[in-house]
Amino acid sequence: MDKIIIQGGARLVGEVQTSGAKNAVLPLMAASLLVDGWTTITNVPGLKDIETFKKLLKHLGSEVEEVEGGVLKIRTASVTTPDAPYELVKTMRAAILVLGPLVARFKKARVSLPGGCAIGARPVNIHLAGLQKMGAEVGIEGGYVNVSAERLKGARIYMDTRTVTGTENLLLAAVYADGQTILENAALEPEVVCLADALNRMGAHITGAGTETITIEGVKELKAVQTAVIPDRIEAGTFMVASAMARGNVLIKDCPLDNLHAVAVKLREAGATVEQEAGGVRVIGDWPIRSVDVKTLPHPGFPTDMQAQIMAMMCISSGLSVITETIFENRFMHVSELKRMGADISIDGRSAVVKGARRLSGAPLMATDLRASASLILAGLVAEGLTEVSRIYHLDRGYERIEHKLKALGANIKRVKE
Ligand code: EPU
Repeated sequence: MDKIIIQGGARLVGEVQTSGAKNAVLPLMAASLLVDGWTTITNVPGLKDIETFKKLLKHLGSEVEEVEGGVLKIRTASVTTPDAPYELVKTMRAAILVLGPLVARFKKARVSLPGGCAIGARPVNIHLAGLQKMGAEVGIEGGYVNVSAERLKGARIYMDTRTVTGTENLLLAAVYADGQTILENAALEPEVVCLADALNRMGAHITGAGTETITIEGVKELKAVQTAVIPDRIEAGTFMVASAMARGNVLIKDCPLDNLHAVAVKLREAGATVEQEAGGVRVIGDWPIRSVDVKTLPHPGFPTDMQAQIMAMMCISSGLSVITETIFENRFMHVSELKRMGADISIDGRSAVVKGARRLSGAPLMATDLRASASLILAGLVAEGLTEVSRIYHLDRGYERIEHKLKALGANIKRVKE
């Protein structure tokens, strides 16, 4: 197993390229199941979750070809086994995204229920209730959900909670439904819009993506298309925080600032300079860092996927910061590790109170989930001494070559085999 070793203290200076968004690629890969021809996806990052999704598609019977330079080609002429096994779903919950397209095109699907994970319970009840509203039969047996429908029919679906993959799954299912489907209280995330745009280019009739109400007029046929993946707002946001923390001056190329407004607002409040330039966003950080309060919310609110990173920053701020997590009930796994570096954090229910201090000290740390891993790397960049982050397979699920990118900016960071 690999670990990452960081000697803290280096300023970050230079340019870094944003990769394609993991959470946009996965739904596009699922969308390929809707058509017979070759789907082409470009700007695909090299990530473990994408490898896992490829395995899942191959298991279903798809042909998957990787062309040089982040190009992925997928074709599903027919499905041999319409099921997503536990082994794949347990390492990547986004596997649930095959449910909608499988039922829509192949009339049935069997997907392992994801169960809880490090950051919370993460149920899929809204995905299932939506499919039921569209006329699907839904049953649970042996840890698997079985869904079948001769033909889905359009429905008006109100989603109790804004769910990103729930919205995506129902979009993927509704494109072939008879008549009109209306998704109310839909997720507004840019990855949902990326999927809807791709589906429309495939021949779907979707309006309102990016708003709370999405309308889908079912169609009989879709064709395979080529889609470029949008830049990863969370990766870009992680580099923004890194630069702000490490007294950096970094140009983040292809940084989707419009989709990161809440993060930019908080970084500016904390004293960093965030400016749009030709080709990217420049973030200049300076100490002392002012403390800011942060509350995670669905898009366009502050993303839960940036909560751990901003908390690492608040650990070296000059005051008291309250960080409230409203999306997932257990997304503070990084707190105990940050405390091992000397951070002063106490958790009270869904809020963490961070007492800033100038200094963190390097320590051996254990990554617990994807974004928590990123926060430990950021803390290591500014800590005194050596930080070792192990279990970085979490990091490899969602950050493409992060240690190379940080090294190119001047960080003393390396990956070693344990
Ligand atoms: N929820 C339900 N019922 C459902 C679905 C969701 O109660 O049927 C609840 C969840 O428990 C949670 C809230 O709704 O409290 C929002 O969860 P959501 O469904 O939006 O999360 P997700 O779709 O499973 C995606 C991202 C996550 C990101 C969240 C929130 C993908 C593949 N994953 O997950 O990304 O944190 O949205 O923005 O798009 C990550 O990349 O590190 C990551 C965890």
